[in-house]
Amino acid sequence: MRVFVTGASGWVGSVAVRELLSAGHQVVALARSDRAAAAVAEPGVDVIRGDLDDLESLRSGAKAADGVVHLAYHHDFSQMDKAARMDLDAIAAFGDVLEGTDRPLVIAAGTLGLAADRTATERDTGDPRAHPRVANAQAALELAARGVRSSVVRFAPSVHGEGDYGLVPALIEFARTTGVSAYIGDGANRWPAVHRLDAATLVRLAVDEAPAGSTLHAVAEEGVPTRAIAEAVGRGLGLPVASISTEQAAEHFGWLGRFFSADCPASSALTRELLDWRPTHHGLIEDLEEGHYFGAAGR
Ligand SMILES: NC(=O)c1ccc[n+]([C@@H]2O[C@H](COP(=O)([O-])OP(=O)(O)OC[C@H]3O[C@@H](n4cnc5c(N)ncnc54)[C@H](OP(=O)(O)O)[C@@H]3O)[C@@H](O)[C@H]2O)c1
Repeated sequence: MRVFVTGASGWVGSVAVRELLSAGHQVVALARSDRAAAAVAEPGVDVIRGDLDDLESLRSGAKAADGVVHLAYHHDFSQMDKAARMDLDAIAAFGDVLEGTDRPLVIAAGTLGLAADRTATERDTGDPRAHPRVANAQAALELAARGVRSSVVRFAPSVHGEGDYGLVPALIEFARTTGVSAYIGDGANRWPAVHRLDAATLVRLAVDEAPAGSTLHAVAEEGVPTRAIAEAVGRGLGLPVASISTEQAAEHFGWLGRFFSADCPASSALTRELLDWRPTHHGLIEDLEEGHYFGAAGR
């Protein structure tokens, strides 16, 4: 299959491209800059220059392919509504091109905030008032009724691995800056996690096999207690580990406090059953124990 991939230069996209290629697919990658074009260039990958803002580039990418993996996202906390709108417009553009073809459209979402006080499952739809991306996922799933084999992959908030530049490196940086690796309260609140190579396998399985209208969870570990994460960070940096109060969290963790205080376990039992997805790579704590997070990690 020839697969159009947006976000191919990103953390998940770059390994998803490799996974698609090794499964025998060809890739058409969207790149918005010379840097991104150079990053995605490899045998088996054609590059289309464009931007999420340029819907015509998205349409031509989708027309040139047998399926679409949409992983690009405008990650800017100060422009969350704009980012969600760009994403929705992109999904609608892909829907128009793929309508009636039964071709796959795989889009990205997250597991955070799906359910309060219990483990979220693929059946939880989330609240569009809590996050505008929930409506985008719904729009993608509704394309199933228009003859698109659409699916939504919800990633755990920590898609970890060597070279990570997401939430875990941010947490490490806060510990370095403050001189203490902190957790909030008893640190029993949990973060789901997935290694990025396992996440990439799930993206490829979604392209190959996900039935129209599927919601999938890229979650290898349902919930790693934040205390265990803080302890691993403390060991890695040789820093003391301490509990802080909820009131202190905003000052200690800044913008990250909102994420690190959340208890958001998520299951992937239905995904594993549906696609026989079996994560095989390191868990988050094992990955932290490897040491690569504590060198010059990230880009
Ligand atoms: N990683 C996680 O822990 C996690 C968790 C939950 C959900 N997700 C979701 O999974 C998807 C992939 O995440 P990621 O971690 O791979 O993100 P990432 O590393 O930040 O990569 C984002 C990708 O989007 C591209 N992009 C951003 N703005 C664009 C624009 N205006 N036009 C075209 N391309 C644009 C970037 O291109 P450049 O290289 O040119 O910047 C990059 O390829 C995203 O939808 C993300 O929200 C990720």
